[in-house]
Amino acid sequence: MDAVRPEGHRDAARVRPAVAGGDARSGPTSAGRALLAVDGGVPAHRGPWPVWPQPTEDDIAAVALVVRDGTWCSAARGRDVVQAFERDFAALHAPGSDAAPTPFDAEGAPVDAVAVTSGTSALIVALAAVGVGPGNEVVVPPYTFIATASACLFLGAVPVFADVDPGTLCLDPAAAAAAITPRTKAVVPVHFAGCPADMSALADLCHERGLALIEDACQAPGAAWAGRPVGTWGNFGCFSFQESKNLSAGEGGAVTGRGTGIETVWSLHNVGRTRGGAWYGHARIGQNLRLTGLQAALLRSQLRRFPAQAARRAAAASHLGALLERVPGIEPLLPPAGVTAHAWHLLPFRYDPAAFGGRCRGDFLKALLAEGVPASSGYTLLSDNVALRERAGANAALVGAAQPAAGPVPVAAAAAENGCWLPQNLLLAEEEDVASIAAAIEKISRAWG
Ligand SMILES: Cc1ncc(COP(=O)(O)O)c(C=O)c1O
Repeated sequence: MDAVRPEGHRDAARVRPAVAGGDARSGPTSAGRALLAVDGGVPAHRGPWPVWPQPTEDDIAAVALVVRDGTWCSAARGRDVVQAFERDFAALHAPGSDAAPTPFDAEGAPVDAVAVTSGTSALIVALAAVGVGPGNEVVVPPYTFIATASACLFLGAVPVFADVDPGTLCLDPAAAAAAITPRTKAVVPVHFAGCPADMSALADLCHERGLALIEDACQAPGAAWAGRPVGTWGNFGCFSFQESKNLSAGEGGAVTGRGTGIETVWSLHNVGRTRGGAWYGHARIGQNLRLTGLQAALLRSQLRRFPAQAARRAAAASHLGALLERVPGIEPLLPPAGVTAHAWHLLPFRYDPAAFGGRCRGDFLKALLAEGVPASSGYTLLSDNVALRERAGANAALVGAAQPAAGPVPVAAAAAENGCWLPQNLLLAEEEDVASIAAAIEKISRAWG
C-alpha cells in the first residue's frame, strides 16, 4: 500500500539536526550556542515532513469503484457503501468488556453511527436531537473551534463558557457545574487535541442534573477515557473528517449514539425521513446532511490503516513529550491517568516567554519554523469573539432573557496566549525526525534562555 506522492513532492535528503555544529554557520557562537536558523544558521531539521492526507492506491481504487458503480448517493444506490463505513466507524468506538460504565447507557446498548457532511453538522443534529433550542443554554469550553459554540447558536440557544482543566485544556467538570443555570439543556465537552475530557465526572454531573451530554470528539476518533471510547459516554459523540483530521475525506462527519436517539439523528440528517419510511414521508423537519458514497469509500479504505497510524502517533508523542519536558519553559500537555487512548490530533505545549529571554510566542514560532518545524499558536479565546457574543445576545433577547454574564476563564485565556500546537502529521515522521523537533526547541532555548 504505497502512499501516492502528490505532484511536485520531492524526496528530500534527510539531513540530521545540526545543533552541535560542523558547519561554519551552525557552529557554536562565542557564548557556546548554535546560531539560530532565523539568524542565518543551519536549520535543526531539513527536508519535508510526512504529507497529510496520505492517499494510497487502495484509496483510489475504493473511490474509483464507487464512481464506476454509480453508488454515489447514500439515499439511493450508495446506501450500502455509506452503511458499511458507519458500521466500521461504530465498531471502532464499541465499548469492550473492560470499559467503565456510564449512567447514560445502563443497558449497554450497541453503539451506532450516522455519517454526515461535517463535524459542524454532526454537532447541530446531535444538539437538535436532544431538544436544544431557543431559551436554552449549553455549557461549552472557550478553548475550541468556533463550531462547538456556533452549533448552539444556529439552533437559537446560547453557549455559556466554562473554563478548561490546566492539565488537558478540556472542559473542567467543576467549572461546568458552576456554569449550570435553570436554562441549561446540555453540556458539550471537547476532546481537545485528541485527549479525552474527564468523562467519568462529566457523565455523572450531567446525569445527576438531568442534562444532555454531547461529546465534541471532532479531533478524537479512537480515543478513550477509562477504557470507554469517546462518543459513547453521553447521548451522542460528534466527529469530523475534515482534511486536517486524523481520519479524513476532505470534509465529512459522524454522530455516534444508541437506540431511539441515533434514529432521531438519522432522521434529522435525512430531511426528516425515517429509516425504512417513504421517500416523501417526513416525520420532522430535517436537513440534507448526507455523506456521499465517494467520501464513505475513501474513509473506509483509510480506516484499515488508522490503528497503525494511531499507534505511531502515540509512540512519537510519548517520545517527544519526554524530550520536551526537559526543556526549560516548555510544558507539553501529556495525558492524565484516566486517558486510556489519546488520538494525538495535536501535540500541544505551553511556552513560557520568561524562560526564553522574554521573547514572545510569535518570535518563538518564527524561529522554530526557520529551524524547519511548523507549529501554530492555535485558538483565540472564543468568549472574546464579538460575532459569537452578538448572536448569543440576539438569541437570548428573542426569548426575553438577558445574555448570561461571561465568567472568568483564566486557564483558557492563558492557553490562547501562550499555547503552541504541533500538528499530527509530524508525529508520523521517522523517530529521528521527531527527535529533531525537541532539538530545534532546545537550540532556541539555549540561544535565548
Ligand atoms: C473541536 C472541533 N469541533 C468542531 C469542528 C468542526 O468540524 P468541521 O470542520 O468538520 O465542521 C472541528 C474541526 O475543525 C473541531 O476541531
